[in-house]
Amino acid sequence: MSNVFVSQHPLVAHKLSVLRDVNTNPQKFRELVRELGALLTYEATLDLALRPIEVQTPMTKTGGKHLADTVGLVPILRAGLGMVEGVWELMPSSQVWHIGLYRDEDTLKPVEYYNKLPLDPTVSICLILDPMLATGGSAVATIDILKRWGARKIKFVGLIGAPEGIALVQQHHPDVPIHLAAIDDHLNENGYIVPGLGDAGDRQFGTA
Ligand code: PRP
Ligand code: URA
Repeated sequence: MSNVFVSQHPLVAHKLSVLRDVNTNPQKFRELVRELGALLTYEATLDLALRPIEVQTPMTKTGGKHLADTVGLVPILRAGLGMVEGVWELMPSSQVWHIGLYRDEDTLKPVEYYNKLPLDPTVSICLILDPMLATGGSAVATIDILKRWGARKIKFVGLIGAPEGIALVQQHHPDVPIHLAAIDDHLNENGYIVPGLGDAGDRQFGTA
């Protein structure tokens, strides 16, 4: 699969296995989502643009680099919220633009309920944050919204993807790289990822 990047980092594999465990409580679950969000974003931002700067060290002047890209984090409510804090620790000046979508339980289609994007894009790269890429409907809808907004560079950063969801994103938006901790086996009849981790929103917010 081109443009799909699955982390090979042992820390990611370890933390994801604890996250999947049905006995992991919401507090630990939130901690792991935050940490995995940071680790995966670290890998997804390998190609951020830099600009040269001059730094005065205690010893001398030397050349350095600052980020030239401006980064927008786009968590898909609710479950994507838990990934923001970890990414913010890496890139504290990132802007955060929330998109609210929920899956209709019968049709599994995304329903938009919140969008506060300003009129014009304010960042040079958008990172969509959502732990679960299941049917792919929510990811495709979010990318549609961001492209209509005028976003030129978009990446999806998630924790677990189903083959069905990855295929849908690639069919509609082959230009958007997908960064994941794992690709799972399949979706069940209710659109849940198997083996997965259950409902990522409910497990974070204690609403199961
Ligand atoms: C979950 C998840 C994704 C979506 C993935 O959200 O966080 O946004 O499902 O499913 P899809 O790929 O089939 O669209 P959910 O709709 O459960 O809302 P929540 O985060 O508010 O719990
Ligand atoms: N949303 C979730 O939270 N989990 C799934 O397995 C699928 C969609």
